[in-house]
Amino acid sequence: MIYRYLFIILIFFQFSCNEATTETGVISNNAMVVTAREEASKIGVEILKKGGNAFDAMVATELALAVAYPYAGNIGGGGFMVFRKNDGEVGSLDYREKAPIGATRDMYLDKNNNVIEGLSTVGGLAVGVPGTIAGVFEVYEKYGTLKIEEIFQPVIDLALKGVVVTKKQEARLKQYYSEINNKKTFWNGSENVQYDKSSLWKKVWNEKDTIKYTALAKTLKRIMSNGKKEFYEGKTASELVKFVQKNGGIITLEDLKSYQPKWRKPVIFEYDDLKIISMAPPSSGGICLEQIMKMINPFDLQKYGHNNVDYIKLLVEAERRAYADRSFYLGDPDFNEIPYKKITSDEYLSTRMKDFSFSTPTLSKDLNPGKINITESNETTHYSIVDQFGNSVSVTTTLNAAYGSKLYSDELGFFLNNEMDDFSSKPGVPNMYGLVGSEINQIEPGKRMLSSMTPTIVEKNNDLYMVLGTPGGSTIITSVLQTILNVHEFKMTMQQAVNAPRFHHQWLPDVILFETTGFDKKITDKVAADGYKTHFDSSRITSKVEGILILNDGKIEGGADKRGDDTAVGF
Ligand code: DON
Repeated sequence: MIYRYLFIILIFFQFSCNEATTETGVISNNAMVVTAREEASKIGVEILKKGGNAFDAMVATELALAVAYPYAGNIGGGGFMVFRKNDGEVGSLDYREKAPIGATRDMYLDKNNNVIEGLSTVGGLAVGVPGTIAGVFEVYEKYGTLKIEEIFQPVIDLALKGVVVTKKQEARLKQYYSEINNKKTFWNGSENVQYDKSSLWKKVWNEKDTIKYTALAKTLKRIMSNGKKEFYEGKTASELVKFVQKNGGIITLEDLKSYQPKWRKPVIFEYDDLKIISMAPPSSGGICLEQIMKMINPFDLQKYGHNNVDYIKLLVEAERRAYADRSFYLGDPDFNEIPYKKITSDEYLSTRMKDFSFSTPTLSKDLNPGKINITESNETTHYSIVDQFGNSVSVTTTLNAAYGSKLYSDELGFFLNNEMDDFSSKPGVPNMYGLVGSEINQIEPGKRMLSSMTPTIVEKNNDLYMVLGTPGGSTIITSVLQTILNVHEFKMTMQQAVNAPRFHHQWLPDVILFETTGFDKKITDKVAADGYKTHFDSSRITSKVEGILILNDGKIEGGADKRGDDTAVGF
């Protein structure tokens, strides 16, 4: 008896302390912020506690990640936000980077038409025109309610106070130390250049050290006082242009001045009784997710069982088909016609699955000729917010690779993206993720590069149900997919859903990528024996899902991915 009481007390204690367990995430009554760093989640919640809404919190959280998570959080990059207001209105903002006006289709090719390695990933020429500051001001001006100082000041204070290095951050900084610290030269079109050294990152940072971001605090302060113009036309703009050009880049003041974020209609579709709202092009996320979910919808997933043989095969075959289409049909909608209706129609998708069978894999080489290239790469971050008024935002933001182009301006205090690598540098050359694509994603001045980012919101019975998204390059789409299915089909809590082991297929290369832990060897052996190539590598599935689930009793569960320092904070 006494044990039973102790058990009940323990359970009660777990919930009332807002502590995450492996089974259930953080539970709260009013609101929730889930991000890659506790400091950012706390700042988001602080804004909500002041009476701010999810949009105010979005601005603060985005900026707080630029301070606390320089690996991917940024003001030198860009992103996408999907939102749902408490009255059911949905929408999305595209603040993706753009190719500079001086960009050309072959800018990363040598005179023999070969891709010059590193040119689109490291140094000034890799940098796309940043969209983050324009994005947060667009959100603030349309939906914000607090004073701008109330939103910016906590972030500036965090930058000045500094952020403590975690064990995982120490490992990341050491992994990228030599790249950040200028061990590499790059070619700027006519000569080899060594890019600027940064004094902040010259130091070897260890766990528990505190990094103070004084230069970033100064930049944020100027932006707080002068608004978006500071970044795109003011002192920050001229310093940025000077810095990028000195390091081989071609961004001009004209590029910055003309940058505009864009409100876009989200992708919306149904799966069982769910309504999925996700990002439209220039992200491929929403359309690919729609294609995959519509292709698997007629099948009885629960019967196959979570991560079981037939479940894996079905998802893989639908993913293979969607990623093949991604390569040919998706790019910046401002530059290309996207055949959205056609490639997401039930008729088209059922034809696409006609040759699917549980007994024989479809070979990617027979599915579509992979003659072209989509480039994409490796660090990003996602955050999900539900406020106390019932508004929600789902935001994925990125520098592209870890620490972007590795260019860090000591004067301005932030890293610059290498988003230009998400364009196709040359047809037929697969990128670091092995993704292949088409001319639809070739470089053009002012164009946005194709993305996989999939910030997503899910409704059930017309009510808010889930808010989720993740980093992970090409694995973003399949990670969001599996998390939704884990909750909807397999009745997992949000915490279980984000923690569950994931697998991935992207058409080319023709291989199923499995995380190294959590899969039953008998099952993966059987999948391999049935003709599928399998590969086990946790470092290739870099997704870290940040999910929020509205529970039946109206409470909110935040599920922060156990794979990182990710943290859910509720109130
Ligand atoms: O926009 C994209 O799809 C990529 N730049 C995202 C990169 C990414 O998620 C890397 N994360 N691990």
